[in-house]
Amino acid sequence: MGALDQKVAVVTGGASGIGLASATRMAGEGAKVVVVDADGPGAERAASEIGGVPVHADVSRRPQWDAVVDAVRSLGGVDVVYLNAGVGTGQRELALLEDEQYRRIMGVNVDGVVFGARALLPELEARGSGAIVVTASLAGIMAFPPDPVYAMTKHAVVGLVRSLAPYLAEKGVTINAICPGLVDTPLIDGKIRDAMAGSDFPLIPPGSVAEAVLAAVAGTATGQVIVVQPGRAPVRYRFGGVPGPRVAGAAGTTPPIG
Ligand SMILES: NC(=O)c1ccc[n+]([C@@H]2O[C@H](COP(=O)([O-])OP(=O)(O)OC[C@H]3O[C@@H](n4cnc5c(N)ncnc54)[C@H](O)[C@@H]3O)[C@@H](O)[C@H]2O)c1
Repeated sequence: MGALDQKVAVVTGGASGIGLASATRMAGEGAKVVVVDADGPGAERAASEIGGVPVHADVSRRPQWDAVVDAVRSLGGVDVVYLNAGVGTGQRELALLEDEQYRRIMGVNVDGVVFGARALLPELEARGSGAIVVTASLAGIMAFPPDPVYAMTKHAVVGLVRSLAPYLAEKGVTINAICPGLVDTPLIDGKIRDAMAGSDFPLIPPGSVAEAVLAAVAGTATGQVIVVQPGRAPVRYRFGGVPGPRVAGAAGTTPPIG
């Protein structure tokens, strides 16, 4: 018996890297996995390896989510939605960022998550249970100067996850964000991999991120931001307190800006 026997999972970006590792791990636990990817042959290959169902779709195009909804309906519904597809711009200089690069990253990393959650939420609600996991990044909770717009998109999905969690809890659905450090996938090929080449800093194997995803799916906690770093178990990130209004007579001081 696997932990996901009889369950249906959707994994976006399932043809490569973290998505492929997670889809494979979910299938190993008994899930029927709908592998969604803009790389059609890649989705076919991954799905055939794990006994899943391929859907060739671009997550940034709202109408293409209809094919994902059709696929899960043909499987009787969905239990796990892993919104993982993502891209970087590789551009640290904002002035050089082209419109097309900007629209692409916003489309995949932000629209793709919103469209996916919106399209599949009614299916999860129909079950009265389920789990959504979103791949954010360490760049979603800290500065990432090599690609500031990438960091912006990942901060956006962290905010979405934390803010949606209370509403989804009413529906019996959890939502959690995974924030890995540098993972050994094709996404970091080029400048980042080259920069890491001479260093001792270890990359995270995609399978380690998949374990964190599985743990988030299995648990009951929601609204979590889960950090995955090399050489340690995944940990929940805790945000610092936000200063409240200053009330006459209240103890404590807030440091001034500047
Ligand atoms: N690799 C890292 O160091 C790292 C670190 C933190 C977070 N992440 C995040 O992890 C997620 C997965 O990245 P990865 O490292 O596995 O990269 P990857 O390049 O190996 O895989 C990404 C997959 O997403 C697919 N994809 C891209 N655009 C798409 C679209 N519009 N519609 C559907 N599919 C699309 C690609 O075809 C590819 O199969 C991304 O959200 C990324 O931002 C990666």
